[in-house]
Amino acid sequence: MKKNILITGGAGFIGSHVVRRFVNRYPDYQIINLDALTYAGNLANLTDLETTENYTFRKCDITNVADVEAIFKEFKIHSVIHLAAESHVDRSITNPIDFVMTNVVGTVILLNAYKQYGEAADGRFYHVSTDEVYGTLGDDGKFTETTPYDPNSPYSASKASSDHFVRAYHETYKLPVVISNCSNNYGSHQFPEKLIPLMIHNIKNNKPLPVYGKGENVRDWLWVEDHASAIDVIFHEGRIGETYNIGGNNEWKNLDLVHKLCEIMDRKLGRPAGKSLELITFVTDRAGHDFRYAIDASKLENELGWSPSVAFDQGFEKTIDWYLENEEWLEGVTSGAYQSYYSEHYDHR
Ligand code: NAD
Ligand code: TYD
Repeated sequence: MKKNILITGGAGFIGSHVVRRFVNRYPDYQIINLDALTYAGNLANLTDLETTENYTFRKCDITNVADVEAIFKEFKIHSVIHLAAESHVDRSITNPIDFVMTNVVGTVILLNAYKQYGEAADGRFYHVSTDEVYGTLGDDGKFTETTPYDPNSPYSASKASSDHFVRAYHETYKLPVVISNCSNNYGSHQFPEKLIPLMIHNIKNNKPLPVYGKGENVRDWLWVEDHASAIDVIFHEGRIGETYNIGGNNEWKNLDLVHKLCEIMDRKLGRPAGKSLELITFVTDRAGHDFRYAIDASKLENELGWSPSVAFDQGFEKTIDWYLENEEWLEGVTSGAYQSYYSEHYDHR
């Protein structure tokens, strides 16, 4: 008998990589991808799986109790890997309610459904979360699993809240849960509201590169495929009730990262060296902008033997190549509603 594994948010950036990995590596799993297909969800991310036997898609909003329960009744769900979320900090600043609804209420609806209808004694509810729940760091130190939660943005507050509900369902109802908190991901299929694909798209189109503040904020970048491999190992071998931090040990100041991107893009686009640097424009900083994120992933490395597979230079080049080679995808997601999003967030910044 195949195990039915429900992956939520599988049409998004990270979710599509996780779905593909699980469908391809585990023929004994039936992967059910539950996704509402918001602006960030795109079935074009998964066209290669459309006719694959152990893959099923269901369009469903996790805030709709009846629709979620119907899926749990239709399939005997062994385990859940929960990625569906509103994920962009800037959108959370302009519209926090959407984040409470999907990230907090939606997560509790899924927990309830798993508690009521989850089928297997050896199953688990895996919540995919972010390092942003820990707040911000100064120049030194790293987040560990015992760093106190201290979220600053509506996005991170909603993810922190959902983590707490997942823990609470473990303590209160003995639900078998596991949580991971990961640093910033980069890679193919990321919606171009996030730093790297937004800058790639703008460089390509000779548009200004909006760097918030002075560009001194620091992020710890991990290749999305390495996040997917960490999720795989934690899902299968992580201890119930535990949290694991995931990170790439790869810190970059935003401005340095944008400089590197400009250099590579000039080379790939056959532009004179330094040309794209002229597009850099410093804009009003993000409200409540966390200064630095850095992850200590030693628990995951020591306990479960995980480590990132790709050096940043290699992963970054691959990523840039993907966006340049997949013009149709990039143009598709940047037409229509993206234009009004971009105007609203950047025109008068
Ligand atoms: P994304 O925005 O690219 O994708 C989110 C997916 O969730 C989309 O497919 C969307 O359609 C779906 N979704 C949104 N609301 C929904 C709802 N109400 N019902 C059902 N589906 C809904 O996000 P991502 O970057 O792939 O992030 C995935 C998960 O990983 C999130 O939980 C996020 O908090 C977490 N995370 C992201 C990063 C990162 O760098 N992107 C880092 C750490 C953790
Ligand atoms: P982002 O990709 O939105 O991820 P997060 O806020 O979750 O870390 O942003 C990464 C960093 O880049 C963050 O410090 C904000 C900055 N940034 C810009 O400077 N300009 C931009 O247009 C965007 C989207 C982000």
